[in-house]
Amino acid sequence: MSHQLLVLPGDGIGAEVMPHVERVLDATGVDLTVKHGLLGGVAIDSEGVALPPETLEKAKASDAILLGAVGGPAWDHLPMMDRPERGLLGLRSELDLFANLRPAILFEPLAHASSLKPELVANLDILIVRELTGGIYFGEPRGVEEADGQRRGFNTYVYAEDEIDRIARVAFDLAQKRNGRVCSVDKANVLEVTRLWREVVDETHADFEDIELSHMYVDNAAMQLVRAPKQFDVIVTGNMFGDILSDVAAMLTGSLGMLPSASLNGSGQGLYEPVHGSAPDIAGQNVANPLATVLSAAMMMRYSLDEMDAADRLERAVQSVLEAGFRTPDIMLDHSNTKLTRVGTDAMADAVIAALRS
Ligand code: IPM
Ligand code: MG
Repeated sequence: MSHQLLVLPGDGIGAEVMPHVERVLDATGVDLTVKHGLLGGVAIDSEGVALPPETLEKAKASDAILLGAVGGPAWDHLPMMDRPERGLLGLRSELDLFANLRPAILFEPLAHASSLKPELVANLDILIVRELTGGIYFGEPRGVEEADGQRRGFNTYVYAEDEIDRIARVAFDLAQKRNGRVCSVDKANVLEVTRLWREVVDETHADFEDIELSHMYVDNAAMQLVRAPKQFDVIVTGNMFGDILSDVAAMLTGSLGMLPSASLNGSGQGLYEPVHGSAPDIAGQNVANPLATVLSAAMMMRYSLDEMDAADRLERAVQSVLEAGFRTPDIMLDHSNTKLTRVGTDAMADAVIAALRS
């Protein structure tokens, strides 16, 4: 049966990379019925809103969504609720995509591209499980108001028990298929909401006795990620801490250009997107690394489409193009190494396709 896929190229390098990744998808031979839609700045320009109703309808009707990236300087002047990012946040929220999986895996050929010493990151394989539809990103009340002759901005950091329980379950489940360790990250020494987070994670843990659970304050977790990242297996945390820590974890692996993500709801439907953003500074130059989107497509094959073989083949193809020395500029740090070939977005995709076919 054909899988229903919605492709949302979005803005900046998202839109630039996506056609190449669609060529890669074709080369997997998986039976996909592909629709396209508008999200982000490109949707604001043509439809007047970041998440047009038509896009939402198509998204609801699809098995999986593959997204490029949204945002850019052209839309920076817009009020908060009208920005391209609202399109993405709206999609996450409307589809209840509460579980965001952000693996930080070091591909061995890139050990030297990491900002840390190679021995600290060799074989690194961390999974950050970020709660994606709650917390301070969505809490009410929010806004900027006038009070006592000055402006006052406020947001609300709120989690209900059931939101914490369901994300903790996802983390424990995934840890069972990995190394059996979960570290829950909070700020329970200061914030009541994360004190509750810690309590509920402990309660949920009672159903997962085989999992080793630890708790860590977010400031310490940030420090530990750059000091000794291999101590982590699965990290589970709230929306904002997960946003920040996943960028840190990404950099450990060499480049934000390598990191995929999956955002899942309770029925297996998922949105797949690279962790990198729209990178307007490099858009349109054929230098963007398509591998994060290729790896996101691999996660899609695995988590939403049950195409395990295609997922493995895509990941192996990425491994093999890196071994063969193909490098987009973001991962081309060692310019004196004559075994490396500097390639653009198009040629990197070509190399992945060739690897898939070989
Ligand atoms: C991410 C991004 C988004 C977020 C932005 C673009 C809204 O930084 O996916 O990490 O903050 O969640
Ligand atoms: Mg982010």
